[in-house]
Amino acid sequence: MTKLHLHYQQALPFINQEEIAIFEKEISLCRKHLYNRTGKGSDFLGWIDLPENIDPGLIQNIRKDAARIREQSDVAVVVGIGGSYLGARAVIEALSGPFDQYDDSRTRVLYAGHHLDEDYHHALLQYLKDKSYSVIVISKSGTTTEPAIAFRLLRKQLEEKYGKEKASERIFAITDASKGALKQLANEQGYASYVIPDDVGGRYSVLTPVGLLPIAVAGLDIEALISGARDMAAYLRKNEKLHDNPAARYALLRNMLYRKGRTIEILASYTPALQYMTEWWKQLYGESEGKEGKGIFPAGVHFTTDLHSMGQYIQDGIKNFFETIVTISKPAYAARIPADPADLDGLNYLQGKSLGHVNAMASKGTMLAHVDGDVPNLEIEVPALNAYHLGELIYFFEMACALSGYMLGVNPFDQPGVEKYKRNMFALLEKPGFEEETAALKKRLSI
Ligand code: PA5
Repeated sequence: MTKLHLHYQQALPFINQEEIAIFEKEISLCRKHLYNRTGKGSDFLGWIDLPENIDPGLIQNIRKDAARIREQSDVAVVVGIGGSYLGARAVIEALSGPFDQYDDSRTRVLYAGHHLDEDYHHALLQYLKDKSYSVIVISKSGTTTEPAIAFRLLRKQLEEKYGKEKASERIFAITDASKGALKQLANEQGYASYVIPDDVGGRYSVLTPVGLLPIAVAGLDIEALISGARDMAAYLRKNEKLHDNPAARYALLRNMLYRKGRTIEILASYTPALQYMTEWWKQLYGESEGKEGKGIFPAGVHFTTDLHSMGQYIQDGIKNFFETIVTISKPAYAARIPADPADLDGLNYLQGKSLGHVNAMASKGTMLAHVDGDVPNLEIEVPALNAYHLGELIYFFEMACALSGYMLGVNPFDQPGVEKYKRNMFALLEKPGFEEETAALKKRLSI
């Protein structure tokens, strides 16, 4: 029995059980295509058995390199974007304490190449100047502009600081097995390097070295993470029936709501540590499903903070969305509300209650208010925020996303739309080979 639960009672005012039964056949067919590798994008299904097949030798190497990085560095800079960035950050931020980044006894994990902001990268280089640091550069294609530029900046500074040879001992490359500029550079310069399997796409790569090396550098338990994913994979494979298979049920419910005009899904959580899990989820679903003029738009909110901003819209605005709440059943630590004899703030009715209890009541009350405001609600309940359950959650979302994409009728494993902005950017940057587009775009922009 999986320990993660999908509750959908608060979606039932909008979808009835009979309708769900009708769609059961459809999702079961999608499941068959996925496991039999007969559906769209079947060259990119390496993630399905990934947790089961991870080589213990690989884990050992990752742990060894992570220990070396921690030993030699005040800071580890993770360079990557999209699927080569978000999974690692999501897990690190979910499982590290909120103030760990201020603890000088730890190796601090920072990020670069996830955007092109000049001031950010300047400030990062300034900050790193008098620190000892290592760089983990991640790019499957090895040619993505944002991380390639950040890596060039960091490599130059590292080489000036330590000399070429010593700098090479501080660079760890994670890339494709054989192609791409990063692979060539890694071979030539002798960087320690890891391979991203051919059949695992960027947004499905968190359980490969792409996610595992940075997560291990942050001192987190990668074995527990994999073990949670492995158990979830086995459970979802074994349990064919919709009733017992939360990933199939989530995929089906979100598609049913979509077909009823709910074209936006808002993922909400009451745990700020999950902020980057939401970002990872947004990428996974947005990049997998948004194509051919179709797809649920994935949005994210962080409650209760956003109840004081977006809460108004969710309650009373246009109703073209549904909400999925990720709740953590049990906080790791207790903070109880103290008594106060004066009770000027009127909070004595809560004395002795934990903040977790108050948060849970805020969540349940909000859910009912939103349902009353015509918002279907789903809830994914995770028992506790630890590496094992996060591994379960990651695999659950991956499987549900693949099934959901198949139900939608798209290939969830490609991203043809991402290329469009790149062509324009290259043309405007006057990259050789783009001359015609450069002239046309400049004319449109009157520059
Ligand atoms: O999910 C994806 O495939 C993308 O988000 C990629 O991860 C992203 O574009 C980065 O690509 P690369 O790893 O080739 O630098």
